[in-house]
This record gives sequence, structure tokens and C-alpha cells, in this order.
Amino acid sequence: MTPEPTIRPRRLRTTPAMRRLVAQTEVAPRHLVLPMFVADGIAECKPISSMPGVVQHTVDSLRAAAAEAVSAGVGGLMLFGVPRAEDKDAVGSGADRSDGILNRALAALRSDLGDSTVLMADTCLDEFTDHGHCGVLDSAGRVDNDETLQRYAAMAVAQARAGAHVLGPSGMMDGQVAAIRTALDEAGYADTALLAYTAKYASAFYGPFRDAVDSSLTGDRRSYQQDPANRAEALRELDLDLAEGADMVMVKPAMAYLDILADVAADVTVPVAAYQVSGEYSMITAAAERGWIDRRAAVTESLTAIRRAGASIVLTYWAAEAAGWLRDQ
Ligand code: PBG
Repeated sequence: MTPEPTIRPRRLRTTPAMRRLVAQTEVAPRHLVLPMFVADGIAECKPISSMPGVVQHTVDSLRAAAAEAVSAGVGGLMLFGVPRAEDKDAVGSGADRSDGILNRALAALRSDLGDSTVLMADTCLDEFTDHGHCGVLDSAGRVDNDETLQRYAAMAVAQARAGAHVLGPSGMMDGQVAAIRTALDEAGYADTALLAYTAKYASAFYGPFRDAVDSSLTGDRRSYQQDPANRAEALRELDLDLAEGADMVMVKPAMAYLDILADVAADVTVPVAAYQVSGEYSMITAAAERGWIDRRAAVTESLTAIRRAGASIVLTYWAAEAAGWLRDQ
């Protein structure tokens, strides 16, 4: 009688070399995009208290940090602007002015870095409005979808003109991808790509970001961002964004939404991004500061998990640092 074969999955885990050989998922520097904040009216870069290690940059410190991230090998940069409080207004005028902080910063980085990286811009009004909403309000104080699209179109053209390679519409207005695509094409920016925030949930994990951009928001964004309870709706948003011309799609947040990410990734032929948001950053950072978690191991594991779930691109505040680790490996 022949003996039973022994089936032992552990054979493939015996040595580091064996584990390296059979690893299915890889995180490389080029997969990582660094979100960066640039603020107007500050003399030097300013720490964000709820995101230790992340700062609001001046244009000068942004240029230095961007150059450093690019030389570490990151795949791209995503810029957010923080205007002075007195420059915010009901329609977010600073968003499409060429001398608005975000557009000035884009122009500076594009002139420094040319096409050596992929320069992305957040296309949303919330940093620029005095009420903090992602769109303009109607007379009843509700976010007016179609009026907002006009503002996004103007903002998008200004960002493309300033030098962004990719725009990230993050406001979750219906029809935003089509409105922006049409405006870009009409203005002669047919090559500017769109990374659509396709499934963006109304999440508590954005808490620290609101500090990071000195948000004026009172209330919440539940009338435009998705309900965390909903899964199928993400695929509905996905169909619409693709039909409207999205070049890449994004799921946000990342870790609590890996099921959504896997659903989206299984359904598309365009690149899929996931955004490891501020609260995800702050949780790991805070636990590591207390000695409760191994920071580098937790960061690496979280990035691997997001890639494994289906993201080809990961937006993460650790992009530059993690790119350094990965390069030195
Ligand atoms: C809105 C926007 C937000 C984030 C990115 N773009 C905040 C929000 O929707 O309230 C959050 C990013 C993060 O938490 O890291 N323009």
C-alpha cells in the first residue's frame, strides 16, 4: 500500500527566499502616490497635529519635498490647496483663479519636475468654500449638484492650465466626470487624465484631513458621499464614471473598504486606485507612538493588503517613506 501524500502548504513558507519566490503581491515605489498639502499665507511649513509627520507646506517647502518624493521613486503626487481663511467664499473662487494657492503650486511643481512624475490635483471645492462643502449651496442651503458642475469645470480647466497631468474629482456630484471631461476637451486639454473618485464613502476616517485643510465644514457630507452600508451602489457609480470618461477609478477609504475595492477591481479594465486616508494614517501612527504596534511592519502590511485587494495605485501619506524602504530592500 502506498503511503498517503503529505500536503503541506508550510513547505512554501520555509525560508525567506522561498517566501520571496512565491509572494503573489508586490508593492513597488511606482505604485504609491503621495498626497501633499500646500497652504497660502504661511511663512514656514506647519505640522498637522492630528497627522504627526505630515505638514501643510509653503510653496517652497512643497517644491523641496516633492523633489525628494520623486527621487525616492513614488509614482505621482496628489496636491491639495489650503487657502487663507479670508480668501474662502461661497463659491470657492480661489479654486479656479490662476493665483489661487493650488494652481500656483501646480505651476511651480510642473516647472520644477516637468514630466518626470505624474502631477495630480484634487478637483473639489471644499477647501475653497467658506461653508466647507464640496459644492455650492442653493437657497435652502443644500449642495446644488448642477451649479457645482459648472464650478468643477472651471476649476478643472484652471488646474490643467497650471500643469496637472491628472485631475481627481472628489466631490461625488452626479455627472462630475462628464462635465469635467467636456470642459477639458473644449479648452484644448484632451490629454489631461481623470482619476475619478468613484466610490467615496462618507467616512469618519477623514477626520484628520479636515484639520489638514483647515476645513470650515459644520455638518456632514452624507447627501453626496456614499453610505458605508452600501456595496452594490459602488458598482453603479463605477458604471457611470466609466461611461462619463474616467481614465482611472478610485475607492476611498481603503482598509475598511477592501470588499468594495475587490468588487471594483474585478469589474474593470482601467487602473484602480485606493486612498489610504488620513484616519488610517493617524491610527497606525498613534498606535506606533504608544509602542502598541510596529509602525513599519503595519504600514507595509496595510499597503500590501490594499494592493492584494486589487489596487494598482495606492494614495498614501507614507508614499515617500515607504518608497525609500522598498527601494533599499
Ligand atoms: C474632499 C476630500 C477629502 C479627502 C480627500 N478629498 C475630505 C472629505 O471628503 O471630507 C480626505 C482625504 C483623507 O482623509 O486623507 N476634497
